[in-house]
Amino acid sequence: MHGIMFLALEDFLEARLGEGVWERLLQAANLHDQQFEPDRYYPDQVANELFELSARFLKQPLPATLELFGQHMSPGLVTMGRSMGILHKDWKTLDILEHLQSHVLAPFANIEFGVMPPDIRTYRLKHGEVAVAYVSRRKLCPLLKGIIRGMGQFFHEPIAFKEQVCMLQDAPLCRLSIYLDDPFFLRYVDVEREFGLVQSRIAEITFYNTFQGVPFSDLGLVLRYSKDEVLVQVPPLQLLTMKVEKVTYLSLPHLPQGLKALIRDVDGNQGMAALTNIRLTDGAVGCRRFPRVTPDKSMPVHMKLGKRTFRGLMLNISSGGARILLEKESRLPEVLLFEPVSVDFAMPLKYVELDDTIVLGPVPMVVDGNILDVSPMDGSMAMRIVFSALPRRDGMVMEQYSRKMHDDAMEVLQGRVVAMQK
Ligand code: HEM
Repeated sequence: MHGIMFLALEDFLEARLGEGVWERLLQAANLHDQQFEPDRYYPDQVANELFELSARFLKQPLPATLELFGQHMSPGLVTMGRSMGILHKDWKTLDILEHLQSHVLAPFANIEFGVMPPDIRTYRLKHGEVAVAYVSRRKLCPLLKGIIRGMGQFFHEPIAFKEQVCMLQDAPLCRLSIYLDDPFFLRYVDVEREFGLVQSRIAEITFYNTFQGVPFSDLGLVLRYSKDEVLVQVPPLQLLTMKVEKVTYLSLPHLPQGLKALIRDVDGNQGMAALTNIRLTDGAVGCRRFPRVTPDKSMPVHMKLGKRTFRGLMLNISSGGARILLEKESRLPEVLLFEPVSVDFAMPLKYVELDDTIVLGPVPMVVDGNILDVSPMDGSMAMRIVFSALPRRDGMVMEQYSRKMHDDAMEVLQGRVVAMQK
């Protein structure tokens, strides 16, 4: 263990228990008059013994002692890191965490003594959140949490922890997520950083929009960006869907979470759009296995739940599931998650091709599924249903319905693209 840790421990104990405690601690460890140098390494065994004695002196359990020690040490680590030039002056808690392995701990490795920096891997999930994984024989995870908590206090940031897996609870490693517990920061996007990264890598952004209830998606490039606006180049059809919706969803290759942006301006001739109000969405975008369409005509639905029947309207549908708006005053029983249902409706197609036969529409369908959730909507309830695997015939009908909706939307779009480019 690095000598700095022992000097920091001395400072911590003296701040808590007063002068002279360090000598008493060294005596109790049979290390009378031991001097610790800030540029030397000492056996882990010595550190462990001093940590345990510190806990006894403070009358606290060892994990709580290490956490308090970490918290106490934070301001000193920041000052030291800045004076060594390894911490950028503008970095705060999550920036320091993000650069922990590469910038902060690496300089403390000492190959001559066989000392490697602790294995603390961090990944910046988004502006307001960093995932951390820590593996170490030393199992100093409470110290890690204490240092992070202390950094949060030092920078006046609302730091919080979640999804904790811990070596002290027999896990092979510690894994946790550290985030800024503030709704604004949870959706905040550092536009210059994220779009700068995309542009420097000449990477493509994927855009997601809907037109006439049909999803459209295409790739685009970052042309320019400023602190809160991004100019992108997008193919004409996608640009038009963006213009109509005045909003777009997008995914950047390096971000696990999707983004939502308002369309401030569209230049049809140059194939460009200006994005503004860029915020994070709740999760990833563009991960749907089955494209979901919103029916263009009213599609009545009957739904059987146990012995009861409910009526409603189809809000959207895919081969994987549907969302249904129940008729007003539908009295739902205490609905359980994943309750089985059967959904009865007619697909509004003039005809469908089923192998060698052509069946005239509307095509009746009865699909089994399970309730995923129920939420209030327009004074009634909307229900999301996951379909069981569709029989081949139903799959073919669904596919032809999606294709027809897509072709209809394409026809209108293509006509309007010409007008947009004039
Ligand atoms: C949020 C920021 C930080 C966290 C979470 C953190 C966490 C930790 C942890 C958990 C250890 C013990 C690891 C082990 O031995 O298994 C450690 C060791 C250490 N840290 Fe940090 N640290 C942070 C920032 C810093 C900074 C800014 C500096 C220096 C300027 C620093 C210097 C050290 C040193 C010298 C060691 C001892 C390494 C050794 O003995 O091999 N740390 N840190």
